[in-house]
Order: sequence, then structure tokens, then C-alpha cells
Amino acid sequence: MQGLLSLAALAALAASLFSASGAAQCARETLVAATNKLIAAQTAGTPDTMGALEGVAYLEQFKTADVTKGILKTPLTLDFNRSLHDTVQCTTYTEMVSAKGSHPYVIGTQMHFTPEGKLTNLSSLVTDQGDWLFNATGTLYWASREKWDVIPEDQRDSRATIQAAADAYADIFNDKSAKVPWGSPCARLEGGAYTGNGSANDRCDVGIPDGVALVNRRYVIDETIGAVDVFIDFATVPDSHEFRVEKGKIRYVHTITVMGG
Ligand SMILES: *[C@@H]1O[C@H](CO)[C@@H](O)[C@H](O)[C@H]1NC(C)=O
Ligand SMILES: *[C@@H]1O[C@H](CO)[C@@H](O)[C@H](O)[C@H]1NC(C)=O
Ligand SMILES: *[C@@H]1O[C@H](CO)[C@@H](O)[C@H](O)[C@H]1NC(C)=O
Ligand SMILES: *[C@@H]1O[C@H](CO)[C@@H](O)[C@H](O)[C@H]1NC(C)=O
Repeated sequence: MQGLLSLAALAALAASLFSASGAAQCARETLVAATNKLIAAQTAGTPDTMGALEGVAYLEQFKTADVTKGILKTPLTLDFNRSLHDTVQCTTYTEMVSAKGSHPYVIGTQMHFTPEGKLTNLSSLVTDQGDWLFNATGTLYWASREKWDVIPEDQRDSRATIQAAADAYADIFNDKSAKVPWGSPCARLEGGAYTGNGSANDRCDVGIPDGVALVNRRYVIDETIGAVDVFIDFATVPDSHEFRVEKGKIRYVHTITVMGG
């Protein structure tokens, strides 16, 4: 037991060292191919498009679920999608909005891969009517107006800077002394509600409660677009906060929060 524990501790240490050094562990093209497959699978309602799923961890709303009864079995016409590709951690995050069908959804999916590109874990937050500020029409409207383009290499923030911005934002929910690098402008798309109106005056330092611990943070970082997605236990509620950071400052925040049963 002792031996096993220290092996696990060593593996965790090695992973965090790799992650801190920022060296790519997997090929971007492999991760991009995988997120394209996810979009194709969701569009067709065919989980098998992802390849063989035996032995792959499958979660919805942070709970182990049966993929053959899950959201991937429902064909959805997607009106918006965007993916983050983290070549250091071999992970991805995909935001998918289906707004115009008879049953609108907003879905956020994190996936994990081996360095060779084999899928090991697919975890989705699936929101629809009744979830926090759910309004897929609003999500689509605002998300498609924002600019999350590739940042020229010499202007990119480091992975550490991007993660620190997300962490400061998450910390302030429970610690008003946290120094958040608010951008100006900055806008938050919370469910389908926008804190701004697309103008230079937009702010996102509004409507933040106190006394809520945002814990168990699982990050997917894509420095090419200055983005990080964080799966969070929002107190006890399954939640995703996705950030776009520009020159060290928060420009956009997207939240997906599961309330429904
Ligand atoms: C996903 O997003 C990309 C980039 O915006 C777009 O080109 C593609 O058509 C979208 N796919 C679907 C199925 O909507
Ligand atoms: C799968 O990934 C999710 C989110 O990235 C994480 O919360 C979960 O613990 C992972 N599950 C397993 C079995 O690795
Ligand atoms: C949803 O968002 C759209 C676009 O912003 C808006 O026109 C509509 O009033 C919103 N619906 C609700 C119920 O808030
Ligand atoms: C956007 O909101 C600001 C207030 O924050 C207001 O001054 C401005 O007129 C609004 N612009 C538009 C285009 O609605």
C-alpha cells in the first residue's frame, strides 16, 4: 500500500512538473481531430463516432453515466461550437450550443487523452431549460458576437498567467481580497445572460456573491487563444467557467451551471 501511494504521489509530481514546464505532451492535430469527432458524434447522435468507448470514463453532471443513454445519443443541430486544446495536459474543452431545435441545449465537455491520443475520459455538463439562467438563444447571440481569435505568438500570455486569472476570479467568490485582473472591457455570459451589451463599457466585476467556495478545479488551458476552462464544484453544484484572457486581463467569461435534476 505504502509503495502504491508513493508511486501515485510520484506520478502526480511528475505530471505537475511537466505541466509547469509547459512542454507539449501530445500533438495539437490529434486533439483537434478528437474535438472534431466529438462535434460530429453530437451532431449525428452517434457516440461510436468517437471510436471504441469501452474503458473510457463517461460522466454527465460530474457523475458516472451510461454513454448509450447519454446526450451523445441525441442528434443535435449545433449553432455554435468552440474547442480549447491543451497539448501539455492532453485535454480538451468543447462548448456546444443548440439553440434552434425543439429542445435547446448548452453543453460543455472536457476530454482527457493519453500522449498517444487515446481517449480516456469524457465528461460533460449538459444544461437545458431550468438550469442557471438558461437561454440558449441568448448564449448563441452573445457567444457568436465575441472574438476569441488566435493570439499572435509574441503577444500570448503564459499558461501560468492564464490559470492565475481564472483562479483569482474563482477565489473572489470566497475571498474579497483576491486581486482579479479585470479587463476593460470585460463581459460575462452567465448561462444565457450577458453582463454587458457588446460595448467598450462592458464590465464583469458585477453580481459576484460572497461566501461560496469554488473547489476541485479541473483546468483545460489553450494559450494559443488565451483561454482556460475550469470544471468547478460551485459549492455543491456542477459548473464550468471558461475564460478568455488578453494581455493578462480577463476579457470574457462563459458559465454553464447545472441546477436541474
Ligand atoms: C463548429 O465551429 C466551427 C468554427 O466556428 C465551424 O466552422 C463548424 O461549422 C462548426 N460545426 C458545427 C457542426 O456546427
Ligand atoms: C474525468 O474528467 C473529469 C473532468 O475533467 C473529472 O472530474 C473526473 O474525475 C475524471 N474521471 C475519471 C474517472 O478520471
Ligand atoms: C433570451 O435571449 C434572447 C437574446 O438575447 C432574448 O431576446 C430573450 O428575451 C431571452 N429570453 C429570456 C426568457 O430571457
Ligand atoms: C451599453 O450599456 C452602457 C451602460 O453600461 C450604455 O451606456 C450604452 O449606451 C449601451 N450601448 C448600447 C449599444 O446599448
